[in-house]
Amino acid sequence: MGAMWERLLACKEEIRKRTGFVPATAVVLGSGLGDFGDLVKTEAAVPYGELPGFPSSTVAGHRGRFLFGYVGKEPVAVMQGRVHYYEGYPMEEVVLPLRALGLLGCRRVLLTNAAGGIGTEKGDLAPGDLMLLLDHIASLVPSPLRGQNEEKLGPRFPDMSAVYSPRLRALAKEAAGRLEIPLKEGVYLQAPGPQYETPAEIRAFAALGANAVGMSTACEAIAARHMGMEVLGISCITNLAAGLQKAPLSHEEVKKTAAEASRRFCALLEGVLLALGEEE
Ligand code: HPA
Repeated sequence: MGAMWERLLACKEEIRKRTGFVPATAVVLGSGLGDFGDLVKTEAAVPYGELPGFPSSTVAGHRGRFLFGYVGKEPVAVMQGRVHYYEGYPMEEVVLPLRALGLLGCRRVLLTNAAGGIGTEKGDLAPGDLMLLLDHIASLVPSPLRGQNEEKLGPRFPDMSAVYSPRLRALAKEAAGRLEIPLKEGVYLQAPGPQYETPAEIRAFAALGANAVGMSTACEAIAARHMGMEVLGISCITNLAAGLQKAPLSHEEVKKTAAEASRRFCALLEGVLLALGEEE
């Protein structure tokens, strides 16, 4: 991965030319969550397009820039828009922006996404629910760590037995309780996309232990853990997974439900960041 390391350093330097801001927590915004940027006291914005060789998102609803600033006392770097594997980028490129934020100083990342609800043992997941990620299944997509390992980022065979930080999960549950925002919990499965799943695939994923399915996040969580970052993941359940609802799945429905849940989702993220800001 020599070439990737060079690219990462070049990205870091390009960002550094634009701002000296040192973030502690990265926030990756999923579909429909772009408004979270309004809650950030922004000190600098860097469009991905200004960074040479940077992958840029082609999906409607994903803006494509970094915001650097504060939520309360917490210095954050927000990714307004991410790139996805289904857009054609190799996994190594999909996780490049997040790795760049790791090199800029982020020790933690809050990953968000829109996902289809498969259901949990405790009760069904309904559209509009927020779900804390307990774990993920990423075996159906390539690993972002495939290829020569860059030891400067992390070890060849990183442990994945606790990807989603119990400490950050506890913090998120506390914030949700304080804000009276219901928060479900479950296992997220990353599917390759871009097509939604078939009902047979969803039955298979349920048998594998998945509670929700989406097209992002797990690869980013792997890259973040590789670098030793603490990870929190939250899904907005925007629809019931294929075969569990009568209507066909559509990106319109996903965007609409995400937009409806956006205020709650933003308030929860803000609550977590405010709590983190008080820690240090
Ligand atoms: N499947 C995959 N990705 C998704 C879904 C889904 O049902 N809903 C939102 N993102």
